[in-house]
Amino acid sequence: MRTTTDHGMTIAVVGATGMVGSRVTDEAGARGHRVLALSRKPADTPTGNSNVTPLAVDTTDADALREALAGSASHRAADAVVLAVRTVPVDERFLVGATRTVLDTAARLGIRVLVVGGAGALRSPGDRDLLVADNPAYVPPDIKAVAAAGVAQLRTCRSHTDADHVYLSPPALLEPGIRTGRYRRGTDTLLLDADDRSWISAEDLAVAVIDELETPGADPLITVVHDGQHSPA
Ligand SMILES: NC(=O)c1ccc[n+]([C@@H]2O[C@H](COP(=O)([O-])OP(=O)(O)OC[C@H]3O[C@@H](n4cnc5c(N)ncnc54)[C@H](OP(=O)(O)O)[C@@H]3O)[C@@H](O)[C@H]2O)c1
Repeated sequence: MRTTTDHGMTIAVVGATGMVGSRVTDEAGARGHRVLALSRKPADTPTGNSNVTPLAVDTTDADALREALAGSASHRAADAVVLAVRTVPVDERFLVGATRTVLDTAARLGIRVLVVGGAGALRSPGDRDLLVADNPAYVPPDIKAVAAAGVAQLRTCRSHTDADHVYLSPPALLEPGIRTGRYRRGTDTLLLDADDRSWISAEDLAVAVIDELETPGADPLITVVHDGQHSPA
């Protein structure tokens, strides 16, 4: 895998039409990387960036996924893959299965995987023994199943010894916002910003995703939080 932007990477984004995936696609394209933008229903409207190739692929279809990542006459093989899928309502079996399929496929092709997962998989600030998924301060009862699915997804990654992967847990609050280009990075514990809030914009999370792909760190579990001004009210 190339690790610098010298010639640009080819980055497959699985879930490219989603809140996170669309920002990752934009960030990668803006930095001159080629993007394979995977989802079941690719966007109708062109992105305006000729570096972006939309591909209709269902992550549960291992053959279609492998074909997309391995490259073809019309597009280059992926150097890295970002997994950013989810379903509403949450479907833990789907999430775990899709994650395993992506890890299996990437391992065979020798490409790195960055999983955009859930905050629930992190440890609580101030109490390392308490997972965020089990902490009512961050996870109210109505989203406990979503948080538990993220924990199961991280477990799937940890038990996959063949694939080269990193799991990025967002802060508790991840929402569309503005791109500041700044964030703080941590590992296995939820981070809080200067106002004691656990949040980041999806745009800045995308910055962190592409930074991690361009300059891979050694940590298998990372997290980020907003840094600086522009905190929402
Ligand atoms: N605070 C937090 O911890 C937090 C907050 C928000 C999100 N997240 C995480 O961030 C990740 C992305 O979430 P998001 O909000 O960006 O999701 P989203 O907006 O709902 O988008 C989901 C994407 O997944 C695609 N998708 C769904 N099923 C698929 C399948 N079988 N094959 C291929 N693509 C499929 C969808 O496109 P199609 O329907 O066209 O396939 C769409 O592009 C998830 O892991 C989510 O849990 C975490």
